[in-house]
Amino acid sequence: MSDKTPSHDPRMAAFVDGLMSRMTLGEKLGQLNLVTTNIPIEQERADEIRAGRVGGMLGGLFPCSFGVNGPAGLRAVQEIAVTETRLGIPLLFGYDVIHGHQTVFPIPLGLSCSWDMRHVETAARTAAREASASGVNWVFSPMVDIGRDPRWGRIAEGSGEDPYLGSRIAEAMVHGLQGDALSDPQSVMACVKHFVAYGAPEGGRDYNNADMSPQRLYDVYLPPFQAAVAAGAASAMMSFSAVNAMPSHADADLLGKFLDGVLKVSDFDGIPEMIAHGLGDETGAIDEADPLQTLSERALRAGVQMDMMGKGYISRLEGALAAGRVTMEQVDDACRAVLETKYKLGLFADPFARFDETRVARDLKTPENRAAARAAAADCCVLLKNAGELLPLARTGTVAVIGPLADDHKNILGPWAFQGDPAEAVSVLDGIRAQGVAVTHAKGANFTEDRRMVELLNFAGTKVELDPRPPEAMVAEAVAAAAAADVVVAVLGEAAEMSGEAASRMDIGIPENQRDLLKALVATGKPVVLVTMNGRPLTLPWEAEHVPAILVSWFGGSEAGNAIADLLFGERAPCGRLTTSWPRHVGQVPLSYDRATTGRPGNPAEDPGKYTTRCYLDGSSQPLFPFGFGLGTTSFAYGPVGVDKTELGPDDRLTVSVNVTNTGRRAGAEVVQLYLTDPVASQVRPGKQLRGFEKVWLEPGQSRTVSFALTTRDLEFHDAQLRRVWEAGKFVIGVGPNSAELDSVTVRWNKG
Ligand code: BGC
Repeated sequence: MSDKTPSHDPRMAAFVDGLMSRMTLGEKLGQLNLVTTNIPIEQERADEIRAGRVGGMLGGLFPCSFGVNGPAGLRAVQEIAVTETRLGIPLLFGYDVIHGHQTVFPIPLGLSCSWDMRHVETAARTAAREASASGVNWVFSPMVDIGRDPRWGRIAEGSGEDPYLGSRIAEAMVHGLQGDALSDPQSVMACVKHFVAYGAPEGGRDYNNADMSPQRLYDVYLPPFQAAVAAGAASAMMSFSAVNAMPSHADADLLGKFLDGVLKVSDFDGIPEMIAHGLGDETGAIDEADPLQTLSERALRAGVQMDMMGKGYISRLEGALAAGRVTMEQVDDACRAVLETKYKLGLFADPFARFDETRVARDLKTPENRAAARAAAADCCVLLKNAGELLPLARTGTVAVIGPLADDHKNILGPWAFQGDPAEAVSVLDGIRAQGVAVTHAKGANFTEDRRMVELLNFAGTKVELDPRPPEAMVAEAVAAAAAADVVVAVLGEAAEMSGEAASRMDIGIPENQRDLLKALVATGKPVVLVTMNGRPLTLPWEAEHVPAILVSWFGGSEAGNAIADLLFGERAPCGRLTTSWPRHVGQVPLSYDRATTGRPGNPAEDPGKYTTRCYLDGSSQPLFPFGFGLGTTSFAYGPVGVDKTELGPDDRLTVSVNVTNTGRRAGAEVVQLYLTDPVASQVRPGKQLRGFEKVWLEPGQSRTVSFALTTRDLEFHDAQLRRVWEAGKFVIGVGPNSAELDSVTVRWNKG
């Protein structure tokens, strides 16, 4: 537990008991009410706060022209809560701090590709220090939703497709955000979201429902939540979607089983939205004149303790209590959860501890924060191709830096960077210039020529400005710049708002007009390095065939331009590895490396032929780039996989070792990965599952033996009765540089 305040701290219990004994029912319900700050504060909200009808607020740092706007505004409402309410209970201040705060780090999907928990924890800690210096005490992060469908835009906010890696990242983020103690004014409360399986929407459309086997839910989608809770995550947010016909806001069973002791909060308006789901109470009945009444009661009974913007808890639960449809115990439990959270955050001891103005200079946007962001942004880049060792580039000659993202300062920050200042973001052009090489630049293309999409991309503020010139004129200008240069760096991909919330896409390639530009650049015969910015896996079949070097940079944040330039010119070695499978074609999705075999798997060594699962009539079923894949600018050789035993009993620990050598001319990092296969079981099992990884840095010629320990915990899965079991028999242990290139050994694990 990273929160050192025990949940049964007797002093806390006595304090909260004492406080609750003095609270009216209205004040208790007020604690459950989470509202936004962005309405004129002098009017409605301030009166509500004074009346004790608000427990927490979200937002408050958005650059809006009304309402609470910045730390001073937050402080002012905290003053009202503490000095002008009957009981002086301080407010929670929540904010979406998803990938950094004022210093913006790479989007979570990008950061996951570092496979480096130090980067993940540092990014989270930095964000916590910066957000808490602005008065925030609660962040709606980490998002631990497993994502296997790249059409879904929010895949950008998670850590990819794998529950094992996702769990390690969830733990690191919780530690970073909450630090050693929640009461530390530099810590913020984490909120693990979105419970649960929000990352599996049908068709990849955001907010859509999911239907899946209970085993998949338990083995794939739940583990990162369990890991976050075990690491001390003090709150959790529900999901908008229904899973197996049940919206999580009403899912008493899963909330009770997995989120005990964690403050459970609805997503924004998530309780009223169950009306549109067609949900009634547990018997299917609804108050037709007032459906919010029915659903607010149901959510409380299910265990949702705070109502974010649904307004039903504050307005409907008193009636529900009088009618006996919710109990005082349910209201008290929820109120206690909120008050205990505030206690653990130290808000009763000092409600203004996170409003220390001296921290603005000390904690925000410091050189250390920028340096951490630069290192993370570099190490999350994934080199997909480097034909003829085009990278690193020489510093001689002229580099033509081309593309709509080449000199972009807004989109490079990514989709959830509300506090990042574009003026302080380093574009790729800035970064390359800073390397001291000769540069030319042309935009070459708009993000897209689809005007309707541009309207949607700019829905919440302009990030995409259309160049009015005809596409052909822009391409011609870029081609001229390329022809006059020695090498081309084409910075192409998505606008930030093409991923993130409510940003699903059917076509997950580089937009067509940008691809036309790329084709024209390649046709010049100059060597082209494609640097992509993207919030999701992209389909790049043409690019993989025709472009000599491809570097995926995600949305890297404030320092992305410097980080990318560091990699292009060999100041740092690319070392990221994919955390999602990259499809060849969108028709392959959903896609993941752990897919189970079928009764007709086909033989990978042969032409797939008909009547096998391996083929589509019109193409391969294999990803273009597999999970775990990424290149460096050196090469590594693996020795044979060694095990210390081949026959094991239930209490044994298996040690798996492999020797890895840097056989190239440059230093570099390798992510050594271990996968486990259970070839025969009582039910169909995944083809393989990640069960260990280690990132090792090796100088040229240097070797290192990497060892992994496995126990029967690693063999476990959920059976049809949802019991956690492992079954005796053979297990195949594969070790290698990615999920598709493994050397394996077989061991036998016995029960007795
Ligand atoms: C999102 C959450 C977010 C919340 C508050 C919702 O629309 O689904 O992830 O934390 O808004 O901004």
